[in-house]
Amino acid sequence: MAKAPDSNPGPVLVLLGGTGDLARRMLLPSLFHLEKDKLLPDGLRLIGVARDGQSADQYRANVRTAIAARETVSDEDWQRFVPRVDYFSGDVTKPEGAKALAEHVGDYSELVIYFSVSPSIFAAACQSLAAAGLITDKTRLVLEKPIGRDLESSKQLNAAVAAVASEEQIFRIDHYLGKETVQNLIALRFANIVFEPLWTSHSIDYVQITVAETEGVGDRSSYYNEYGALRDMLQNHMIQLLCLIAMEPPADLDPDSVRQEKVKVLKALRPMSRATVAQEVVLGQYGAGVVDGKSVEGYLKEVGKPTNTETFIALRLFIDNWRWAGTPFFLRTGKRLPERRTQIVIQFKPLPHSVFSASANQDMVANRLVIDLQPQEDISLLLMNQRPGLTQEGMRLQSMPLSLSLAKAYSGKDGRRRIAYERLLLDVFRGDRTLFVHRNEVEEAWRWVDGVTDAWLEAGLKPKQYAAGSMGPAGVHALIERSGHQWHD
Ligand code: NDP
Ligand code: BG6
Repeated sequence: MAKAPDSNPGPVLVLLGGTGDLARRMLLPSLFHLEKDKLLPDGLRLIGVARDGQSADQYRANVRTAIAARETVSDEDWQRFVPRVDYFSGDVTKPEGAKALAEHVGDYSELVIYFSVSPSIFAAACQSLAAAGLITDKTRLVLEKPIGRDLESSKQLNAAVAAVASEEQIFRIDHYLGKETVQNLIALRFANIVFEPLWTSHSIDYVQITVAETEGVGDRSSYYNEYGALRDMLQNHMIQLLCLIAMEPPADLDPDSVRQEKVKVLKALRPMSRATVAQEVVLGQYGAGVVDGKSVEGYLKEVGKPTNTETFIALRLFIDNWRWAGTPFFLRTGKRLPERRTQIVIQFKPLPHSVFSASANQDMVANRLVIDLQPQEDISLLLMNQRPGLTQEGMRLQSMPLSLSLAKAYSGKDGRRRIAYERLLLDVFRGDRTLFVHRNEVEEAWRWVDGVTDAWLEAGLKPKQYAAGSMGPAGVHALIERSGHQWHD
């Protein structure tokens, strides 16, 4: 039913794809948490949208079930949240569906339209929602990844959205930027003076970024098979981590200042060529195996057809600028690996000269900064220390961690870890785009990624099998050992 005109309308969140997997697992629970923390804007109405014809009451019951799948939902908290929740059934890519939605929404002070739907319908939905009068200067559009499958398709998608809204109205989500520990990279680098003088190729030997998952592709195999690990994880989440590690200090945290520095890093990524790609990239695809003590099927069986989609990628890249000249960055990510771990390792160079005895020198390990993002949140700086006690050889040394355990600090006052989307949704309501991805970043990242895929196609690179539960295919160690280094496992 259309909402009656209101003399003092409040804000509205239209959640396109309000019955989908992402909405059920992440977005609705995040909104519920924001309600519990009294952080939702006053008077906010939430309208879930999909095409399945269910009633608003059914939808409310389904929303409760979805949130309860993650945590206990008390009646008191639910009663505060539920009056906000509404449902609209219709196809937003069709003019009549969008028009009916506009009538349903009625008046509003601000409108957020969250596209938690397949990117294949972003363009058509934008067109019909704009024609229905839902995209005005009071509207913000939130876009889920993937923004395209390559540079060309991302440009088309960005152009379709730009045709109806300005860049300031567009919030492109990379949920890694909503994780507390990812934001902490900014604090670590720019709220401490000790690292900056060392943060260059003069002192840093190499950098590793690992995003390991135990999960397989599950019921997202038709999406995943079209994308693979490079486009699903590396093009967005890992490249964002890389940018935060490698960018120059921005003048301030204004979204444009940060974006400009990230884009400079992306422009400086050394392109790969057919001649070099086999030395720089290892692709893998999981076969059957054992993960977390359970036998699991191989990727081909799950997908049900022959495919060369990679479920694992490791690569070495270089950033050709003054700060990072000669420092290799090793990135690896994969599904069905033995453990869930997101970790950044900054490996410092060995001492230029040792003042210690031969026996103490045997103990010497170069300093290393290890930033664990998932599942534990922890930052350790490995420093050399005198090993206590007396020996015939004299002074001995050992590497000891100076540790900053973030688990407690970031677990929230109710003892739980925040969902990354809570922060991002709050920032959308506040209109703060610092943690969102600008069109230029997306397109520059695709430009480099397209070069990598072109090179590997020309070179005929195919994924090598690895057993589920192992740390990737043969060749992944050789990739790093060729530079004289090792994976930090
Ligand atoms: P699902 O396929 O689970 O959900 C899609 C939703 O969109 C359903 O609610 C569907 O309902 C609705 N929908 C589809 N077409 C229309 C239409 N024309 N008009 C109105 N509603 C429509 O997708 P996910 O939730 O998995 O993904 C949503 C987005 O989030 C995608 O962009 C995905 O890439 C991204 N994403 C998802 C992640 C995840 O873990 N699931 C992780 C990161 C990003 P109905 O069919 O009834 O209309
Ligand atoms: C999504 C990818 O963007 O990120 C998934 O599409 C992946 O394939 C997920 O599993 C990982 O997110 P997180 O927060 O669990 O590390």
